[in-house]
Amino acid sequence: MNNAKHNESKTDTELFARAQAVIPGGVNSPVRAFQAVGGTPVFVKEGRGSKIVTAEDRELIDFCGSWGPLILGHAHPQVVEDVKVAVEHGMTFGINTEREVEFAELLCRQIPYMDQVRLVSSGTEATMTALRLARGVTGRNKILKFDGCYHGHADYLLVAAGSGLLTGGTASSAGVCASAVQDVLLAPYNDLTAVENIIAEHGDALAAIIVEPIAGNMGLIMPNEGFLEGLREAANRSGAVLIFDEVISGFRLAPTTYGNSCGVTPDLTCLGKIIGGGMPMGAVGGRRDIMENLAPLGNVYQAGTLSGNPVAIAAGMSTLKILIEDSPYERIEKLAKKLVSGVQEKADAAGVDINIATKGGMFTIFFQKNDVYNLDDAKKSNTVKHAKFFHNMLSNGFYLQPSQFEVCFISAAHTEDDITTFITAAGKAFKQ
Ligand SMILES: Cc1ncc(COP(=O)(O)O)c(C=O)c1O
Repeated sequence: MNNAKHNESKTDTELFARAQAVIPGGVNSPVRAFQAVGGTPVFVKEGRGSKIVTAEDRELIDFCGSWGPLILGHAHPQVVEDVKVAVEHGMTFGINTEREVEFAELLCRQIPYMDQVRLVSSGTEATMTALRLARGVTGRNKILKFDGCYHGHADYLLVAAGSGLLTGGTASSAGVCASAVQDVLLAPYNDLTAVENIIAEHGDALAAIIVEPIAGNMGLIMPNEGFLEGLREAANRSGAVLIFDEVISGFRLAPTTYGNSCGVTPDLTCLGKIIGGGMPMGAVGGRRDIMENLAPLGNVYQAGTLSGNPVAIAAGMSTLKILIEDSPYERIEKLAKKLVSGVQEKADAAGVDINIATKGGMFTIFFQKNDVYNLDDAKKSNTVKHAKFFHNMLSNGFYLQPSQFEVCFISAAHTEDDITTFITAAGKAFKQ
């Protein structure tokens, strides 16, 4: 290893060139590659509170928040302290620990309809496990998902709408067999009529309906009134397992799930991001009679060397306890409201068409006038304008999600000043 040589590189351009030589596309997850906005991805060397410092020593106010986990901001002192203590006691055992029992108890306490929970290491693992469970307990194969909802990168979830929504979808990635997606049916988000049609045709074969109860992977889209209730009813009628993928929304608006807050009870819930406090963690939990089908009790297999990892538990537990005790939600929402109204005003003044979706500390600035209810609506946004806005904001000190079809996050560490300067910079960007 030539460490001296490695330490010389400082600019994003140099680092990205080095990265591209040894990492496909220079990134370890494709969304980081700036393909949607162009240019060279930023490299970070540290983060504190609402800010990150890049390899080029630029300080940026961060609205990406590692794509959602960092609701307390970067390197929250208590979380860091708790992680340090955990690390000093050993990083992994592959043997039971009291802390994982405590953590499962905490999740089940905060989510009254979660009787049991299995910890995993990512959101993808959580949804894979939930869907395998649903297929295992129902003895059925078909899955209904919503176009534009993302549930991780398992083969059968990489599916795009086919020519007819009533037929199975087509694979949206090379390497995914047609047979893997043939049992996955797609409906537009917020479209209960499409759901009804699918139930009429395939209800008897349907193992699961999986949905993001707040959609966050085509930009932020809220469920229409009655949509989630309609899914609950459709699942009851068809005998399918209703799965809420709350990897983004869990613990985001309150120290519980959105399902619990809005009063619609799913059979299974998938969690990730916030519950890991910045460490790799996911969870699937729900009805005892379903969860008890997981190995070793039942015949649905699932396992993980690092599942329930003590360091990840320490970060997650610390984060959830702070969220429960300090309840920063109202303050975060107030900041988001201020940002949204300020940015909208600036856009109106500059004559730029935008529509900002917001809920709690989440927001997406869609570059179009119209309200967005599903993926087709979201796709009508002007992605060229979004890319220009993104780069303008970046050069003025703000890191946003490098894609139109994502959610930006405000954390408990953001300040009034962060929001005010964001609004001013957005105003300048719109004018340009
Ligand atoms: C709603 C949702 N589900 C599942 C996942 C997959 O989680 P992970 O990236 O931890 O595998 C994501 C990731 O962004 C997500 O947003």
